[in-house]
Amino acid sequence: MDARQLKIQAASVALEHVRPGMRLGIGTGSTADEFVRLLAEKVEAGFEIKGVPTSERTAGLCVELGVPLFPLEEVPELDLTVDGADEVDRELRLIKGGGGALLREKIVACASEKMIVIADESKIVDTLGRYPLPIEVNPFGLASTRIAIEKVASSLDLSGTIDLRMDRAVPYETDGGHFILDASFGRIPDAEALSSALNAIPGVVEHGLFIGVASEAIIAGPTGVKTMKNRGNQEI
Ligand code: 5RP
Repeated sequence: MDARQLKIQAASVALEHVRPGMRLGIGTGSTADEFVRLLAEKVEAGFEIKGVPTSERTAGLCVELGVPLFPLEEVPELDLTVDGADEVDRELRLIKGGGGALLREKIVACASEKMIVIADESKIVDTLGRYPLPIEVNPFGLASTRIAIEKVASSLDLSGTIDLRMDRAVPYETDGGHFILDASFGRIPDAEALSSALNAIPGVVEHGLFIGVASEAIIAGPTGVKTMKNRGNQEI
């Protein structure tokens, strides 16, 4: 089974959690796109939801496919968010932001009663950090912020390259007009400590560690789809 089929499988199981009338946060990325496509089929058949997109990219796809959208300002509390992830550990801690939407994704997920992660099995890790950690920063003071991040990392015995994400010849700009630093620290044994320390740096707008945000992960693999809740009580 190819990767796209796995994403579709995870997305279709997540869709079973969506009830009529729900206020629904809609994630960003190739897995979330599959969710949007399946959701759009249901909407076309008469199913009603209020969608809140986590990025301009997702908003574009929703508009194209007829999924009704509302700004978060109008629907500030949501029932459920369904989104992908770059990494998921067995405590349901995540790394997100590979698609550059981490700030809106975190705001929308945290405004939701429940967040369900959809992913294929390749995203499961024992310890976060195989995937570079995206850190969204204000362009002002970029060099100072990078040094502050290096110091924080070093205090936690983490090291590695911190690369400014580029979009061809210019820095990649998020929907919020910020830049992204991708930090290749390798294994992050204490994700909570790193999260708190990064949050304390003024130039850091947000980072891709989602801790205590996801309530469930729907993981598709060649042997089927499994659900992880809280402490990953169903091993995949
Ligand atoms: C975007 C994200 C995505 O959810 C994450 O990058 C996973 O994407 P994909 O489903 O394409 O693997 O965090 O900011």
